[in-house]
Amino acid sequence: VVLRWQGRCTECGEWGSIEEEHADPAVGQLGVLGADQPAAPARPLGAVRPEAARHATGLGELDRVLGGGLVRGSVTLLGGEPGIGKSTLLVQALAGLAARGATCLLVSAEESPEQVHLRAARVGALHDRLLITGDPALARIVGHVDAVRPDVLAVDSIQTIHHPEVAGVAGSLTQVRECATALVRLSKERDVATVLVGHVTKDGSLAGPRSLEHVVDTVVSFEGDRHHGLRMLRALKHRFGSTHELGLFEMTAAGLAGLEDPSRLFLADRRPGGCGSVVAPVMESGRPLLVEVQALVSPTQAPMPRRAAQALDGARLGMLLAVLARHAGVDCASADVWASVAGGVRVSEPATDLAVAVAVASAAHDLAVPDGTVVVGEVGLGGEVRQVPQIERRIAEAARLGFTDAVVPPTTPDVPGSRLQRVATLEEALAVAR
Ligand SMILES: Nc1ncnc2c1ncn2[C@@H]1O[C@H](COP(=O)(O)OP(=O)(O)OP(=O)(O)O)[C@@H](O)[C@H]1O
Ligand SMILES: [Mg+2]
Repeated sequence: VVLRWQGRCTECGEWGSIEEEHADPAVGQLGVLGADQPAAPARPLGAVRPEAARHATGLGELDRVLGGGLVRGSVTLLGGEPGIGKSTLLVQALAGLAARGATCLLVSAEESPEQVHLRAARVGALHDRLLITGDPALARIVGHVDAVRPDVLAVDSIQTIHHPEVAGVAGSLTQVRECATALVRLSKERDVATVLVGHVTKDGSLAGPRSLEHVVDTVVSFEGDRHHGLRMLRALKHRFGSTHELGLFEMTAAGLAGLEDPSRLFLADRRPGGCGSVVAPVMESGRPLLVEVQALVSPTQAPMPRRAAQALDGARLGMLLAVLARHAGVDCASADVWASVAGGVRVSEPATDLAVAVAVASAAHDLAVPDGTVVVGEVGLGGEVRQVPQIERRIAEAARLGFTDAVVPPTTPDVPGSRLQRVATLEEALAVAR
């Protein structure tokens, strides 16, 4: 800061109206403050005994994402698109908690208790310690909490709760923010673990104020493709654990089932040895998964051929087509190209480049990649194949599922149980397709 004379007031535009002021030297000096007797002396941090017991839900995949379960007195926001399965996950989690001895109170303002009963009966989530009310008024929810004294409170959804002293209808920004803030205070005061369900808008943000994410301790997002059974649960923010865990579920008629072995599901309907089909080991939030990358190349007279990428990055596909044409002699200039990842998982990492490129070449030239082979590597603009993170874990997962061969970047170390074919360029990689 440079101090200089200022003749004109920037507020009112008047000249010569600014006067110098000296701060009172006594103010702000600790010597003038009185001391209160502290209620308890400060203690070594190491001597603090955290009560922080977690309530395990018994749903392995959910507990994995939460780092072991719901933390006492914490508030978790469960977000997801309409119809993705938030209420199903919630009622299954509450039943699991109840079965482990926790008293649970579900405030279902969105669906009537009868409707919730039907779902809970279908997924086997009825329990005596799981109580329900359909009351959406915030003050009466507090009353219910004081009457029931639950260990876990769940509100489905925060957008349907209202308080008459707050402006706006239920679901409006002020109502959502005020009610959520009040529930957070309630949760801390009564030591109740709270789960708030929140809807997500089309653009993927949690509806209601973004500030909701700052108010709560944990934000988990439930995602998936509505046309597939696969559901993914991720922590976007977590005060009590890692945000790198991924929970995988399959939506079935009997509710959400944890997916211990997701790769098998992704590869279940694959036709091994088909043209334009390549298996790639990808990493999703620290978990290795095997997915099938598919490509279809179909000649066209159209002046602007189509390029369509599903569950893949479209711009990356365009780049790979250019590299294929320039450095590997695979020209798709007069063909439509479709590329997709089967199964409902979205892949965005460059480590799938080589698999996509090989799939396109295999589709264009009617060649098949031998059965039992996975392909992994990043492709550079010069047609070179580059190393990817966690290559050994990817290959180990492939080997576990019976893939004996892997086409990999040149610097890949040996991995037991797998025959590696190290390739330095895209052109070398294409030689595996016959
Ligand atoms: N009988 C059934 N068999 C299989 N799946 C079902 C069945 N009934 C419902 N589902 C699945 O449950 C999903 C709806 O679940 P749920 O009501 O928990 O979602 P939600 O995210 O709470 O939705 P909303 O945004 O409407 O509250 C459906 O999209 C469907 O996939
Ligand atoms: Mg619901």
